[in-house]
Amino acid sequence: MSNPQVHQFTKDKNHPWDRLKTEQYIQFFIDRNFVSLDCFHGAIIEKSSNKLIGLAGLNPYKENEPEIEWKLGVTYWNKGYATEIGKEIISEAFKTTNITGIYGMAEPENIASRRVLQKIGMKYLGINEFRDQKDAFYYIGRLGL
Ligand SMILES: CC(C)(COP(=O)(O)OP(=O)(O)OC[C@H]1O[C@@H](n2cnc3c(N)ncnc32)[C@H](O)[C@@H]1OP(=O)(O)O)[C@@H](O)C(=O)NCCC(=O)NCCS
Repeated sequence: MSNPQVHQFTKDKNHPWDRLKTEQYIQFFIDRNFVSLDCFHGAIIEKSSNKLIGLAGLNPYKENEPEIEWKLGVTYWNKGYATEIGKEIISEAFKTTNITGIYGMAEPENIASRRVLQKIGMKYLGINEFRDQKDAFYYIGRLGL
């Protein structure tokens, strides 16, 4: 999270994280002790190396319709990991919670993120306002619609 490249298409684009912010972030989610998948952040562990390589989760957005998010270390990009975990989050969240749909937002220039949102079966809805900027919106409903 200290690498500015990770944040180049996110709201933290000029603010790479320092150690303190990273520790506070991890502590926040440990304290929340999530027991449900409708809103959570988790670590991404690479199975082959057993290394912590990023985070993924569902952020609150609309009622029963959270927003999916991922951030991976740069050396782990383009190995299909975000696609693998995104599909799994969608499947498990629909199986184990009452959410009705999941949104995905990406800066229009964030080609990798938009490609992943497409690959995990989300439908493109167009450009809309999100957190004071224009983002490309994607969505998948419980029945895959
Ligand atoms: C977005 C992100 C999570 C994607 O993770 P990833 O594990 O690399 O994604 P995948 O490997 O599953 O898929 C990436 C896809 O984007 C494509 N891609 C990546 N960069 C691209 C580019 N510059 N132009 C065109 N396609 C590109 C890859 O080829 C791949 O598609 P393909 O399978 O059809 O070839 C990762 O790049 C990341 O952490 N970025 C920084 C944080 C971020 O922007 N997060 C998203 C918003 S919160």
